[in-house]
Amino acid sequence: MKSVGCGGHCLGVRRVHKVRLETVKVLVIGPGGREHAIVRSLLADPNVSEVHAAPGNAGISKLVPTHAIDANDPDAVAALATRLTADLVVVGPEAPLAAGVSDAVRAAGIPVFGPSKAAAQLEASKAFAKQVMAEAGVPTAMALVAANAEEAEAALDTFGAPYVVKDDGLAAGKGVVVTRDRNAALAHAQSCFDAGGTVVIEEFLDGPEVSVFVLCDGHNTVALSPAQDFKRIFDNDEGPNTGGMGAYTPLDWAPEGLVQEVIDRVAQPTVNEMAARGTPFVGVLFVGLALTSRGTRVIEFNVRFGDPETQAVLARLKTPLGSLLLSAAKGELDKAEELRWTKETAVAVVVASENYPDTPRTGDRIRGLKKVEELEGVHVIHAGTALDDDGKVISAGGRVLAVVALGTDLVEARERAYDGVELVQLEGSQFRTDIGRKAARGEIRVAASGVPTASKAKA
Ligand code: AMP
Ligand code: GLY
Repeated sequence: MKSVGCGGHCLGVRRVHKVRLETVKVLVIGPGGREHAIVRSLLADPNVSEVHAAPGNAGISKLVPTHAIDANDPDAVAALATRLTADLVVVGPEAPLAAGVSDAVRAAGIPVFGPSKAAAQLEASKAFAKQVMAEAGVPTAMALVAANAEEAEAALDTFGAPYVVKDDGLAAGKGVVVTRDRNAALAHAQSCFDAGGTVVIEEFLDGPEVSVFVLCDGHNTVALSPAQDFKRIFDNDEGPNTGGMGAYTPLDWAPEGLVQEVIDRVAQPTVNEMAARGTPFVGVLFVGLALTSRGTRVIEFNVRFGDPETQAVLARLKTPLGSLLLSAAKGELDKAEELRWTKETAVAVVVASENYPDTPRTGDRIRGLKKVEELEGVHVIHAGTALDDDGKVISAGGRVLAVVALGTDLVEARERAYDGVELVQLEGSQFRTDIGRKAARGEIRVAASGVPTASKAKA
């Protein structure tokens, strides 16, 4: 790289990113709990000198300066990052990624943790993801794409019940219907066609689900500790799908070779395939898995950290996050230090507003958060919150916040998290009471063939 005499800010000259580690200035894009958790971890990194967020939320704005821009507007984000002279931009949600925010920031010469618009198609189009998985030999559910009722009926009858029908496009985790009712499956497909879309219809995958986040730098991959999410709104996995109602990590019951299998059979082949296509993948490849009786299968790819899994996973990560994400953004993950984790277990329990995931009630005061923070090993991560005119925290979205707790084991972490949840006062709010309960009771079973190479479950 050419050395420049103007500090790298001259027009037309790419900034030289040989920053000294302790001066990394990071801009985090997104409004949710995942971004609050990322900001919190970045602030704990001694190499990070400054953190900004856009647009942020009430929790984030208490920690760092926030900027009221349209986070889905590539030019607006690139302009902000340039004005702040950011050394790294971390893009949290899928919408700005699919809109090309990373491309614009990269074009401005600033390292960005988050895939290009082209690579974000792995989440933005389920049909595209299936194509890449097929090319890369990644084990996943058999699937058919349908564009009209006739094709949908044929696809449903190919696989039989339970039926799995997915909106092809982005739907914030709510575009999937899993049902034994053929008419309900068809009705969901029809609603997607009516909206001008197509659907992916799949074979049903049995077995427990696992989320594995794999950091990618275009070529190299590093997996984080697996987590489990709870997608349905009600206890015992009843009711409609949500963005996620809680999570815990690590998974004591997961087969020993699981993470290596995810790297060898899923993440590395996918990253290789994306690089070969000329659209290298930089960011988090979020691998949603089912450990089925016929082996490990990918349910879905996302191109970002999961929410609320991130709240739990980052609570355990001891490796400085800013340096790690900067290594990934610069294509240098192979030089990053090995990940270190606390031995403790983390649980995140989401408090959602009344009527979520339908039309959530918003604008209500939230009380008790200070008391929650005083509990040992417990902190609050904001998601759908805002400040009212008096500076008081009010609800502003469906998933309002998560109470995150660390404990020596899952039993203690759950107790602490639920002690915290009980202190949160928000009228009409709802939460699941069974986050991590089955695992704490030793009730999760993985079929013997869950991982062919190492089928023995840990303790
Ligand atoms: P997705 O948006 O693809 O993650 O799907 C949301 C949820 O639907 C998943 O977390 C699963 O619980 C469920 N799901 C998706 N695909 C399947 C499948 N092929 N078999 C069983 N459940 C599925
Ligand atoms: N919790 C799942 C997701 O972020 O999509």
